[in-house]
Amino acid sequence: MSNPPHSPHYADQAISCTVSVLENLQIARNTYRLRFESPQMSRRFLPGQFLMLRLAGLQDPLLGRPLALYDTVCKDDGTPRGIDVVYLVMGKMTSLLAEASPGDKLSVWGPLGNGFYPQPVNHLIMVAGGVGYTPFPAVAREHLGSRQYGQPARTTPGASRVSMCYGARSAEFLAGIENFSEIGVELHLATDNGSRGHHGLVTDVLEQVLEQSDSDSRRILCCGPEPMMKRVAEIAEQQQIDCDVSLETPMACGIGICFSCVARVREEADGWDYKRTCVDGPVFDARQIRW
Ligand SMILES: Cc1cc2nc3c(=O)[nH]c(=O)nc-3n(C[C@H](O)[C@H](O)[C@H](O)COP(=O)(O)OP(=O)(O)OC[C@H]3O[C@@H](n4cnc5c(N)ncnc54)[C@H](O)[C@@H]3O)c2cc1C
Ligand code: FES
Repeated sequence: MSNPPHSPHYADQAISCTVSVLENLQIARNTYRLRFESPQMSRRFLPGQFLMLRLAGLQDPLLGRPLALYDTVCKDDGTPRGIDVVYLVMGKMTSLLAEASPGDKLSVWGPLGNGFYPQPVNHLIMVAGGVGYTPFPAVAREHLGSRQYGQPARTTPGASRVSMCYGARSAEFLAGIENFSEIGVELHLATDNGSRGHHGLVTDVLEQVLEQSDSDSRRILCCGPEPMMKRVAEIAEQQQIDCDVSLETPMACGIGICFSCVARVREEADGWDYKRTCVDGPVFDARQIRW
């Protein structure tokens, strides 16, 4: 079963606020984990949703940039009090963000988008390429029952086994792998240069994991570069496994106004239409995407 049909998510749970940086730690090459406090926003977030972020008071860059929820930050009693995002330094905004210090102000609006919809499944397999791994700690925690998300907190059917296939250019770009092990995720790594894990593509690792999985109830969730997601979608189709992909199309507004984020999505009767990734996604059934 795939995600239920849904109406667009017009930022109906989103709040917009100015927050202070609590931490901005380098966790891998060119990769930082940024933490800010916002009890109100963190209570609402679901795994796979994203926020838009810009540096408060700066005119350049003017537009916010989308970043996925890495995870909520909770008090000792489990109440969400803040948000972690993880970003790779790519261009203008993330280069400036890497210089942010505790106390610096950010403008954020979220949660946005649909997120990954939890389904009853025995073996959940997450596949990530590069910084596409960022939505998955929260997805894993939710499926393994160690954290609840949303307001009211949603209960999920859970999974008895959660695997993560994670590929990066080289070992120094692999970020947050200790988090996955702590959460109880089976980790399968791949690097382009063979410096850690399988020497080659993360899709090779996915095929190995599927060969060794005898469950008849499996589901694949995927996020990363488009060619990787396309190949994962093909593998899932060949093996008749439901697969959801989280698209990383560039976005300008994040709330459905500008149409800068469209993807070609199949419709019934063999047609297709442009859908806005920010409000109709970013998570889509892989069979819907015209790559
Ligand atoms: C829903 C969603 C969630 C995301 N989550 C994360 C996250 O958790 N962590 C993270 O590091 N990034 C994430 N991204 C990607 C991030 O928003 C972009 O990389 C962002 O443009 C970086 O801003 P910048 O100003 O530093 O770079 P820019 O100046 O905007 O761009 C630098 C270069 O990257 C290219 N680029 C911009 N956006 C993309 C993109 N989406 N895909 C491929 N190339 C792109 C540009 O063409 C340019 O060459 C996410 C994107 C989406 C849509
Ligand atoms: S980013 Fe503006 S419509 Fe999606």
